[in-house]
Amino acid sequence: MVAIDFVLHKVEAALKELPPGLQDHIERARVLARLFAGAHSVNVAKADLAAAAHDLARAYDDAKQFAEAGRLGIAPNAVERETPLLLHGPIAAEYLRQEMGCVDADVLEAVCWHTTCRVGMGMLGQVVFLADKVEPHKVARRPFLERVRDLAPNDPSGAIALYLTDELERLLREGFLLHPIAVEARNHFVVQSRKR
Ligand SMILES: [Fe+2]
Ligand SMILES: [Fe+2]
Repeated sequence: MVAIDFVLHKVEAALKELPPGLQDHIERARVLARLFAGAHSVNVAKADLAAAAHDLARAYDDAKQFAEAGRLGIAPNAVERETPLLLHGPIAAEYLRQEMGCVDADVLEAVCWHTTCRVGMGMLGQVVFLADKVEPHKVARRPFLERVRDLAPNDPSGAIALYLTDELERLLREGFLLHPIAVEARNHFVVQSRKR
């Protein structure tokens, strides 16, 4: 079993190769992920590792998304073939698993599904999903996200339901495809948030 800090060391070396703006976003997401992890009794070191790794493949162009997906054994679905950026989470998770020795299922889930979320996403994944979406620069660009951020510490299901509902509405309005995993996740978290 490879230790979390050993994997983090490899991730941090890879982060240095990313564009500076992306590195800054990742650092802001890490701060929030550690904060939210503390609020939800999630392992802080694992939340930090997943947040550090989540966007390792975010800067690739479409051709590189497809090339890396193919190399790592990821088969794009119909929506991912049209929107290859959606592959950047699954690619980063495979870097962690295949190339950095990470075997922690919660960390791999959090990284893989950080763009769409998914049905039954564990608390570590929820924390990282929200940290990525409500880091301060994103909130400054979209004041709506203040509501998501303010819900996150006490009601992560409600925060995810609110975010995904708004995001899927936006994607529909702007003519984008909806990832079926995100639609299922939205339904799941709407139901979860009603149970509170
Ligand atoms: Fe991302
Ligand atoms: Fe991100």
